[in-house]
Amino acid sequence: MDSELSKHQAQEMHSTVTDMYTEVNNELGNRYQPFLNYGYGYPEGAPPMPLLEAQDRDFQISAQLYHFVTSATSLPGKDIVEVGSGRGGGSYYMKKYCGARSVVGLEYLGQSVDIARNSFAIDGLSFVQGDAEQLPFDTASKDVVVNIESSHCYPNLDSFYSETLRILKPGGYFCYADLVTPEKSREIEAKLRKLPVELARCRDITANVLASLAADNARKVALIKDMDLSEARAGWWLNEWACVGTTIWDELNHGQLVYVSYALMKI
Ligand SMILES: C[S@@+](CC[C@H](N)C(=O)[O-])C[C@H]1O[C@@H](n2cnc3c(N)ncnc32)[C@H](O)[C@@H]1O
Repeated sequence: MDSELSKHQAQEMHSTVTDMYTEVNNELGNRYQPFLNYGYGYPEGAPPMPLLEAQDRDFQISAQLYHFVTSATSLPGKDIVEVGSGRGGGSYYMKKYCGARSVVGLEYLGQSVDIARNSFAIDGLSFVQGDAEQLPFDTASKDVVVNIESSHCYPNLDSFYSETLRILKPGGYFCYADLVTPEKSREIEAKLRKLPVELARCRDITANVLASLAADNARKVALIKDMDLSEARAGWWLNEWACVGTTIWDELNHGQLVYVSYALMKI
C-alpha cells in the first residue's frame, strides 16, 4: 500500500518534525552531541572501523553507522550530499575521516544547520537549510547521496528518491538507512526496485543497531539525567533514544520495528 500524504498532512508532518527537533536542540543546550542516530554495533565480533580521534571517540558507534551504510561505495575524492544532516556529526565524519572531496549537509531545521556550522568549520564541509523533497543542487552533480535515520520524517518518499537520483551522476551511489515498521520497509523496497538503479545492497541491520543501543546505553542515560528534565520529558528522551527497556527498544527486539539499509547505484 502506498502511504503518501495529502498537502495538509505533509505540512502537519513538517511542523511536528520542526517542533520536535527544536525542543531536542533546546534541551541539549550547548552539550556536544553531534549525532542523532542509533549507531551500528558488531554483535558478531567483526573488527570495527578504525577508532576516531580522542575528541570524537564518544560518537564512534554513531559514526560506525555511516561507515557501514557508505561501505557499499568508496568516498575518497567524492562530492557527497548528506540529506537530513541534523547536528552535523555524520557530514563531519565523512569529510574528516573518509577523504571526501566535499560534503554538503542539507537539513530542514535552520537551528540545526546553525549548530552544525558552529560545531564544524573545516574546508570542504558546508551545511545548508533545505527540504529532502526539493534538493538545491544541480542535476548530475554529486557522486554520493547519504541519508541516515531521516526519511521517516518525509511526507513524500517518491519526491525524495527522484530528487536524489536527479542530483546523482550516472554510476553515483545513494547510501540509505532508516528505522521503520516491517510494512513500511516492504513499501520502501518496492519503490526502490522500480527506480532506474542497481540495488547493490538491501539489508536488515536491526541486530547491529541493537548491539549499538546496548553499548551506548549508559552514556545516553547519563546525558539524559544531566539535562535535568521533567519526568515526562526524560521518559520521552529515553524512549526516543531507544534506551534499554523502553517501548522502541522493545519493538526493535520483537520485530515491530526494523532498521534497514540500502545502497543503490544510479544507472
Ligand atoms: C534522527 S535525525 C538524524 C540526523 C543525522 N542523520 C544523524 O544521523 O545524526 C533526523 C533529521 O532529519 C531532519 N529532517 C526531517 N525532515 C527533513 C526534510 N524534509 N528535509 C531534510 N531534513 C529533514 C530532521 O530535522 C533531523 O535533523
